[in-house]
Amino acid sequence: MPKFNPKKFIKEKINELKKKIKDKKALVATSGGIDSTVCAILTKMAIGDNLVVFFIDDGLMRYNEAEEVREFFGKKGINLEVWNVEDVFFEALKGKVDPEEKRKAFRDTFYKILSQAVRSYSVDFLVQGTIAADIIETQKGIKTQHNVLSQIGLNPLHYGLTIIEPLKELYKNQVRQVAKALGLPKKIYDRKPFPGPGLATRIIGEVTRDRVEKIRIATKIVEEELKEKNIFQSFPVLLSDKATGIVEGKRLLGDIIAIRAIKSEDALTATPVKILWKRLFKIRDRILKEVPGVVKVLYDITPKPPSTIEYI
Ligand code: XMP
Repeated sequence: MPKFNPKKFIKEKINELKKKIKDKKALVATSGGIDSTVCAILTKMAIGDNLVVFFIDDGLMRYNEAEEVREFFGKKGINLEVWNVEDVFFEALKGKVDPEEKRKAFRDTFYKILSQAVRSYSVDFLVQGTIAADIIETQKGIKTQHNVLSQIGLNPLHYGLTIIEPLKELYKNQVRQVAKALGLPKKIYDRKPFPGPGLATRIIGEVTRDRVEKIRIATKIVEEELKEKNIFQSFPVLLSDKATGIVEGKRLLGDIIAIRAIKSEDALTATPVKILWKRLFKIRDRILKEVPGVVKVLYDITPKPPSTIEYI
């Protein structure tokens, strides 16, 4: 296989996007993650002001995520259109505990909002940052990734969308090379993957505001404590069972949080990272202190397979 050439890829994709979109308008929904950010920049280079960059504030993001994404695009001279629709997402996720049902509820809501945005900004195309691993996992029947539609037999036109996926042949490390070649900052090209359905993938059982807030605090802690480049992803997960603990001498039925930190090349396989006890203990202490109601902190030592990276 010839060595991947990011500069050549950029040139080809810009031409392809120009040819497809012509003088029409396109929308990129960005989460601020590397895939959708690269898509937005490539599309901007191809069609200039005919691009709308859209951010769905779904209530499932990490601390300050919307502000950071707005600031990044602002520096690039790109206006970010933000819709705060967290109520719609929490309503759709209400009462759902089955992982695939939760994914379906997220996906349906996501595309409904996107089709409203497409109509409201009168755009003709949706450019999406789906990458090869998303499609492979979905096709293998492992889990339906939120950004894979036609591959699971759903017609994007059902949502009134014509989708372009410029990165669909690439793996994460190639997207990073493209981001670097585009001159994007390290903060973007070294950014750890964060799934589209956001913190909802890190909650077993029902996704409520209260539970999201707990995992949001824990995520900030784990991300602050485990930043190394060789860690592909690190995050906490809120389990659905409760465990008995003792707080101020009394029995307390509290939450259980598992921590996952893995190494991976392409997200198709993964191995757990060996972390020194001292560092794990620090994370444990911070979680017990800063996240209300937690009585157990676990470290997940399973590889993928048989485990997947996320918990749903
Ligand atoms: P799994 O859990 O399948 O994850 O081992 C593989 C990689 O994909 C990410 N992931 C997602 N990314 N939408 C995304 O954009 C999704 O629905 C989704 N589900 C999982 C996960 O974080 C890991 O990097």
